Amino acid sequence: MQQDGPFTGKFITLEGGDGSGKSTQAKLLSEYLASQSIESILTREPGGAPGADEIRELILTGDPERWDAIGETLLFYASRRNHLRLTIWPALKAGKWVLSDRFADSTMAYQGYGNQLGVEAVQKVHDFSVGTFKPDLTFILDMPAEEGLNRTLDRTHNEDRFEKMDLSFHERLREGFHAIGSQNPDRCVMIDATRPIDEVQAELRAETKKRLLP
Ligand code: TYD
Repeated sequence: MQQDGPFTGKFITLEGGDGSGKSTQAKLLSEYLASQSIESILTREPGGAPGADEIRELILTGDPERWDAIGETLLFYASRRNHLRLTIWPALKAGKWVLSDRFADSTMAYQGYGNQLGVEAVQKVHDFSVGTFKPDLTFILDMPAEEGLNRTLDRTHNEDRFEKMDLSFHERLREGFHAIGSQNPDRCVMIDATRPIDEVQAELRAETKKRLLP
């Protein structure tokens, strides 16, 4: 069984490079949904379910050479499958909206483009693990790689395997997000994330209203 519909809730994902402000924007967007009397859950990847959170620890901590691109991709998808089955699909089925800070486009951008595993390889794993299920709306928070990385410098945590990767890795993954956005115009909206938080949020709310609210 690939998925467990029918789904009456909507699924929104926020994507972008490190330091692009996704988490802040996701939280503000969930407040907007609440103000519109829409029940939603806020979740994130990697993680979002107990097994997926354990995999998150494995992937994000330790030596940058710990996993190769294939191993890492499989871990991200094992975690995603767990997140879908135990958190996302049950919520959508119950009519709740789901806002996820990162989802499958991150694997395409980081592993497919950043780590240069390639589009086809990542797509194969995706089709096997997720099938045709996809978000109703995806915001790609875009900013120059260097600016995003500078914003992460003041973070103090140990989950920094990707922030340690070099600038060219982050530039490739940004190109990946651009490619994903232009290939999926019905689902994806590119957002200039260099602007102030409230301006970015206003655009997210306007697009959500236009595309998904009755
Ligand atoms: P996190 O601390 O959640 O970073 P952020 O706040 O930037 O989202 O760590 C997630 C890291 O994992 C981030 O650097 C992006 C990376 N990642 C991938 O490489 N592939 C994926 O499929 C996902 C979901 C995340």
